[in-house]
Amino acid sequence: MSQPSIFTQHTIKRNRNLIKNKNILQSTFIPNQLPHREREINMIAEIVAPALEKDKPSNILVTGRPGTGKTAVLNFIGREIKKVDPNEENCCFVYINCEIVDAPTSMLYNMSNQVIKEHERKIPFTGWSFDKVYETLLSYMEESHKTYLVVLDEIDMALQKKGDDIFYYLTNMNETLSKSRVSVIGITNNTKFIEFLSTKIKSRLGEEKIIFTPYTPDQIKDILRERAAVAFEDGILEESVIPFCAAVAANDSGDARRALDLLRIAADIAERNGDSKVTEAHARSARDRIELDAVLEVIKTLPAQSKTVLMAIVKGSDHGSITLTTGEVFTSYKDLCGFLDLPVLTQRRVADLISELDMLGMIHARVKSFGRNGRTKEIELSISGEVVCVLSSDDLFKPLSGFKKKQMTLM
Ligand SMILES: Nc1ncnc2c1ncn2[C@@H]1O[C@H](COP(=O)(O)OP(=O)(O)O)[C@@H](O)[C@H]1O
Ligand SMILES: [Mg+2]
Repeated sequence: MSQPSIFTQHTIKRNRNLIKNKNILQSTFIPNQLPHREREINMIAEIVAPALEKDKPSNILVTGRPGTGKTAVLNFIGREIKKVDPNEENCCFVYINCEIVDAPTSMLYNMSNQVIKEHERKIPFTGWSFDKVYETLLSYMEESHKTYLVVLDEIDMALQKKGDDIFYYLTNMNETLSKSRVSVIGITNNTKFIEFLSTKIKSRLGEEKIIFTPYTPDQIKDILRERAAVAFEDGILEESVIPFCAAVAANDSGDARRALDLLRIAADIAERNGDSKVTEAHARSARDRIELDAVLEVIKTLPAQSKTVLMAIVKGSDHGSITLTTGEVFTSYKDLCGFLDLPVLTQRRVADLISELDMLGMIHARVKSFGRNGRTKEIELSISGEVVCVLSSDDLFKPLSGFKKKQMTLM
């Protein structure tokens, strides 16, 4: 008899009707209303308004922690500009995310693509030098006789990698342009960023500075309620879900993105379970999943020696004793280095790596004193079995596949 299909075996009971529109809960979605950002919107609108009369607004630097609505507000402004000047007769709004596009030539190319509308005048994607792209774009801009508002989101990314180049080139365009103007709005999550700029760039970019403060738990609740009202049918969301998501996100420095992620993942878990409501239990699972992902990300990016020290603690804990001393970890570490063909660091250096792992929350270490006999650390693993599994399957530990099997059976 033939096997039934996996679709009949695991009855996929996904309840597809919980979320009306998934996009609304994505962090890239720009809602029509941005509660608690009216003041910032008005401030920016006032500064950029002259662009609608072909004048040059001041450059602006927008700073604030992640998830405080900077990107959403600037895109909202762009949309409002398009409403009053749909054909870009006076003002052309350009948005570039420097985290994605970071080389100066790619940035100018990206900008040209948004600015040059005529297909036959588009700049080819490859093959042109920076100077040629720059000159072509500049003469197109001059001819078009308007104000260009260029938003450089995550501007610290561009400046870190390529000096002050792109910002410098863009603002310098004004020296050549006579009929058109360019204003730059830089956005950064890094509030200290401006301190690292040269004095000249600092004064140019920071002509106007706007700081976005973290949202309070109540503000995050309002933001979530507004989104939830359009994303879910009535009665789908249990009352306590939004306060829970808001409280978690507020603990996490008032980050609205984090709150929305929680809500979206909670709804996703409810759908997968085939449940008819999104409950606080779903939101708690969502929080656990996000935390797990964050730990896994840290594990993935650890240097090989730190991974090995962590693995030494995992192995050491396997042999019955739950807490280990620095010396025991070091012995286990040396064994592993032998298997993996890695250079052995000094015990002092390994002790430093142990402290780092402690700070990352991967392990828990307490100093224990033996009076005159000195002191040692008592080290305990604080990662879950799931995380240990991911660590063990790291490419670095492939040569251990022999004892990896043993490891898996222990979990
Ligand atoms: N005031 C607000 N009202 C509605 N949604 C908001 C508000 N502030 C932020 N968001 C949403 O939170 C998420 C993160 O905001 P974002 O603008 O990307 O933050 P930032 O750029 O400051 O890191 C986005 O999905 C955004 O739409
Ligand atoms: Mg942003």
